[in-house]
Amino acid sequence: MSVQPAFGEAQQRLREARSICVLTGAGMSAESGIPTFRDTLTGLWSRFDPAQLASPEGFRADPALVWRWYAERRDGVRRAQPNAGHRALAAFEQRHPGRLSVVSQNVDDLHQRAGNAGTVRLHGDILADQWLDPCPRGLSCDTDWAAPTEPPRCSECGNLVRPAVVWFGEPLPYRAFEAAERAAQSCQVMLVVGTSGAVWPAAGLAALARHRGAFVVIVNPHPSEIDHEAHLLLPGTAAGVLPALLDPL
Ligand code: APR
Repeated sequence: MSVQPAFGEAQQRLREARSICVLTGAGMSAESGIPTFRDTLTGLWSRFDPAQLASPEGFRADPALVWRWYAERRDGVRRAQPNAGHRALAAFEQRHPGRLSVVSQNVDDLHQRAGNAGTVRLHGDILADQWLDPCPRGLSCDTDWAAPTEPPRCSECGNLVRPAVVWFGEPLPYRAFEAAERAAQSCQVMLVVGTSGAVWPAAGLAALARHRGAFVVIVNPHPSEIDHEAHLLLPGTAAGVLPALLDPL
């Protein structure tokens, strides 16, 4: 299938849509130098064990290992810059206030730094911290911020600080997922960018949007597990496709 007709139809649908929901995954930040999770060879899960590094059990088993791994990822996020895809989404929101909502699986802050301040964070924020266990006395624990190679620990109750991200086996933040469902149910176009569609419930948002009548467009250089939910597939990268698709609108 030639890409041109599909591209033109996607643009026309976006032009006419009162409400657009953009669902992004790790591929959105790949051209900013942040590794994805499942890309062959370069993805994080091809080199590390998610159960050991991105789960409550893995953290309890070796807090220092997980803390150091996140410290490296945090440094990478801080060094990264929003790419042309992030900038195209932010510029569209500036030109058309209130028409575009970004729902991201990404824990980086590149959408926010580009200008999509209202981005819904389904899987948390890698640059933020939280307590591992509910603190019996609220957040009044005074943490003993140990060496950067160890997670801080409350010097009184021993509670550990952990990254404020959703780990495997944990529920998504209720308010964030509720906002994501609202955006998916009310949009006329859902633009899915840079996700393998391998992780639920985020992956189900495309089906939800389609079920409610939205026109679903997927931007990805490779096939994804939710391609069957798309009306149009636009093969290509976030930084390559999004500016060409959105800047003229
Ligand atoms: N532009 C667009 N898409 C890209 C690019 C790019 N430059 N590079 C890679 N991709 C695509 C890949 O083809 C793949 O489909 O991005 C997708 C990345 O898939 P994953 O690595 O599985 O990332 P994601 O879908 O966001 O994973 C979902 O899984 O591990 C958990 O919590 C983690 O939020 C993450 C969730």
